[in-house]
Amino acid sequence: MSAIDRKDYCPRYSYEDSPQSISYGATISAPHMHGYALEHLENYLRPNMTALDIGSGSGYLTACMAEMVGSGGKVVGVDHIPELVDLSIDNMKKQHSDWLESGRVKFIVGDGRLGCPEEGPYDCIHVGAAAGKKPTALIEQLKAPGRLFTPVGTYSQYIMVYDKKEDGTVEEKRVMGVMYVPLTDADKQLGRDY
Ligand SMILES: C[S@@+](CC[C@H](N)C(=O)[O-])C[C@H]1O[C@@H](n2cnc3c(N)ncnc32)[C@H](O)[C@@H]1O
Repeated sequence: MSAIDRKDYCPRYSYEDSPQSISYGATISAPHMHGYALEHLENYLRPNMTALDIGSGSGYLTACMAEMVGSGGKVVGVDHIPELVDLSIDNMKKQHSDWLESGRVKFIVGDGRLGCPEEGPYDCIHVGAAAGKKPTALIEQLKAPGRLFTPVGTYSQYIMVYDKKEDGTVEEKRVMGVMYVPLTDADKQLGRDY
């Protein structure tokens, strides 16, 4: 995280340990949550690995993941708000336009609940918004071994870690209680669902 300047992705209160608005009904998550996520995914963000960041928003965490997988790796960021995908691309261009040119990072507009099977399978998947229930579509897109780190739940939410083992079996672990925005429809997030 110290290799990626958060100010490029969060111009106001850049170094506060709290979520900040990035417009379009979205926030950049607090640095301590990004830290927890990267620590849990560390062994699946080794050089040359492939990762998926769902709800990529500002692009900050995607950039941290790209730093970790190195020039031989690939990180795909997916967000359902086109303006946020444009914002994340502009943010990354401030210091790392080469990552976009080389394909080390791709930002894609899409419904993250479906994952991004066309770019997978992935060594790890991070989700930055809460799934209502166990996200089986995402687990399917993991390599074996592979790890998914995601908030799950509606009123009470937990960070869940799903580990796909080499034999294809999946183990799940409840890590901690959290409060995330939901993975939702774009119109709902933008207040257009009237
Ligand atoms: C708490 S923000 C996290 C953003 C990002 N991880 C960061 O720190 O900048 C949650 C993100 O999930 C996105 N999101 C919500 N529902 C989604 C969906 N169905 N598909 C893709 N992205 C979604 C929002 O647009 C928002 O950018």
